[in-house]
Amino acid sequence: MLSFSKRFITLSLCSCMAILAIEPIVPIPRELDYDRQKAEVGKVLFMDPMLSSDGTVSCHSCHDFDHGGADPRPVSIGVHGKKGLSNAPTVYNSYFNFRQFWNGRAKDLKEQADGPLHNPVEMNMASKKIEKYLNASDYYKKAFETIYHAPPTYKRALEVIAEFEKALFTPDCRFDRYLRGEIDLTGPEKKGYRLFKRLGCVSCHNGINIGGNSFQKMGLIFPYRWSPDFPDRFALTSDPLDKNVYKVPTLRNIALTAPYFHDGSSPTLRDALEKMGYHNLGFKLEKKEILPLEAFLESLTGKKPAILQESDSL
Ligand code: HEC
Ligand code: HEC
Repeated sequence: MLSFSKRFITLSLCSCMAILAIEPIVPIPRELDYDRQKAEVGKVLFMDPMLSSDGTVSCHSCHDFDHGGADPRPVSIGVHGKKGLSNAPTVYNSYFNFRQFWNGRAKDLKEQADGPLHNPVEMNMASKKIEKYLNASDYYKKAFETIYHAPPTYKRALEVIAEFEKALFTPDCRFDRYLRGEIDLTGPEKKGYRLFKRLGCVSCHNGINIGGNSFQKMGLIFPYRWSPDFPDRFALTSDPLDKNVYKVPTLRNIALTAPYFHDGSSPTLRDALEKMGYHNLGFKLEKKEILPLEAFLESLTGKKPAILQESDSL
């Protein structure tokens, strides 16, 4: 699949795209169908620390809406100050990912939400305890009655959380508006996009989420440090070829979600770009490449999800 020409990587994917004259990145829609009532209750659950064993940690503790839906700490901290093993990815636009988690171990958002609620270093709660808490709350009882004509259950709670996450999409970034022909990009932004395609970034970061649609190796050309604690594909498959293989992260809103990588080891976007260039493309990016790439990546910051701006109580 990979062939080198000078220092640029040409991919069969790119040449095929050029022939078809299709852009390798697709804008996210301005509107998405979701169940408003469920999403509003999901939002309350997402913010509720009582879903954790010591009453201090909510989903929002590690997926902060003021940090692009991600965690500004290199690794997340759960109940009783317990440290996790990886950096929390953004929940914004996660609905568009083909699988969830760094190694894709959950097939969708409902299955994903089951993880942190039980994880001993995250929220550490049993399903039965969550059900008991929800059924003791007038707000939740009334809300689930309105939606399901039935009392709260753990499964229904996962469903409404997932519906809320579906609503966390960030439309109308400058780059999407450019793709739709509504605005022009600045010189550096356009140059950055050209480099993004020509250098080969686009071979892994493409599609509607500019990532989130394949598993790839961190350290494809020059190996990246590995630890058995990393949530890579190897942890699931035990195949040595899967060491340091992760779901390619989305680059949407990337300017907001430092630090970067599964281990949170890059404090700045510039540092992340340098590592990507070296480990995954096999060369040192020059300053005249990094600056426009940064400008392009900054054009991927979209509007904050509408559901976070309006508040309808049920
Ligand atoms: C203690 C911090 C913490 C809490 C609390 C937490 N998360 Fe996460 N979240 C993480 C980390 C770390 C990962 C990555 C773990 C991995 O891939 O192994 C993650 C991954 C995710 C992903 C996958 C995103 C992707 O691109 O793969 C979603 C979605 C998500 N969390 C939603 C939630 C929801 C919903 C809750 C509440 C029920 C929640 N999280 C609670 C830290 C946290
Ligand atoms: C061979 C596939 C591949 C190529 C080529 C590639 N990436 Fe990546 N990229 C990945 C993977 C996999 C990760 C996650 C690695 C990790 O967390 O250890 C990643 C992570 C990133 C991150 C950090 C995202 C986050 O949320 O932590 C940025 C930024 C990034 N890439 C930008 C780029 C740019 C810019 C280029 C081109 C200069 C590029 N990538 C080339 C596969 C690739």
